[in-house]
Amino acid sequence: MTDPVFLATAVEAVLRAGDVQMAHLGTDLQIEKKGRIDLVTEVDVAVERMFRAMIADRFPDHQVVAEELGGEEPVRVRHCWVFDPLDGTNNYAHGLPIFCSSLALQVDGVTEVAAVYDPSRRELFTATRGGGARLNGDPLAVSRIDTIIDSLLVTGFSYVVHEQGEMLVSLFAEFLGRAQAVRRLGSAALDLCYVAAGRFEGFWEQHLKPWDTAAGALIVQEAGGRVTGMDGKPFDPWLGHVVASNGYLHGALLETIGNWRARRPTSSQ
Ligand code: IPD
Ligand code: CA
Ligand code: CA
Repeated sequence: MTDPVFLATAVEAVLRAGDVQMAHLGTDLQIEKKGRIDLVTEVDVAVERMFRAMIADRFPDHQVVAEELGGEEPVRVRHCWVFDPLDGTNNYAHGLPIFCSSLALQVDGVTEVAAVYDPSRRELFTATRGGGARLNGDPLAVSRIDTIIDSLLVTGFSYVVHEQGEMLVSLFAEFLGRAQAVRRLGSAALDLCYVAAGRFEGFWEQHLKPWDTAAGALIVQEAGGRVTGMDGKPFDPWLGHVVASNGYLHGALLETIGNWRARRPTSSQ
């Protein structure tokens, strides 16, 4: 069993992140551009700095892999915290209240603890491996819808959208033609938590980073859902592509991707 102090630490960290995010939401933020459309606000950096200090103080032998002040460095030690200080930065920078922080603890490469906090709705999603998933302390379960035409799906477009827009939109169109509706919220971590909560039946996205998906994937699995790569192989947050579902829909989602890919032999994950 995972040491309960790790879940308590994860919850404390994302709640503190939420306080900082809400204190600055809608203010005149300092915003820099990592790429043409890839933003970083002072809040992303401040929250990550706060979290790194917290782990260095409490668990000096643990590693932190996080978006803004280190990036995707190789994992060197048994305990690795994978942290997105602000998932949904573009929403946040525009004052759109769809964002969160997302934190996973991996032990020997396996995610054991997850916490995602949406401070706008005061929704705290948590999971421990084998211990179930929760929303504000109440057990979470995926939906039971088993037909794609009755499904509400969600996806995201990563920052390669200007270079690979046609490819991303063609898969989006494929799903639009099969599902009841498809949404695009702008926070991959919340997309995953909403699959866990039964609000969406499925989610897919490619070109993601480990801090976007590590926590949400465990929350989906612990809520009874299924998570794989877009090729149907076992999910690994370091691979960057994901399909998450309530389980009933998984085959239909992978089949849709497979059919689309068969017509586009050159498309990557
Ligand atoms: C982004 C969000 C978005 C997804 C992008 C991510 P960020 O993370 O999760 O929904 O489509 O691929 O990069 O930059 O807001 O932390
Ligand atoms: Ca992110
Ligand atoms: Ca981020």
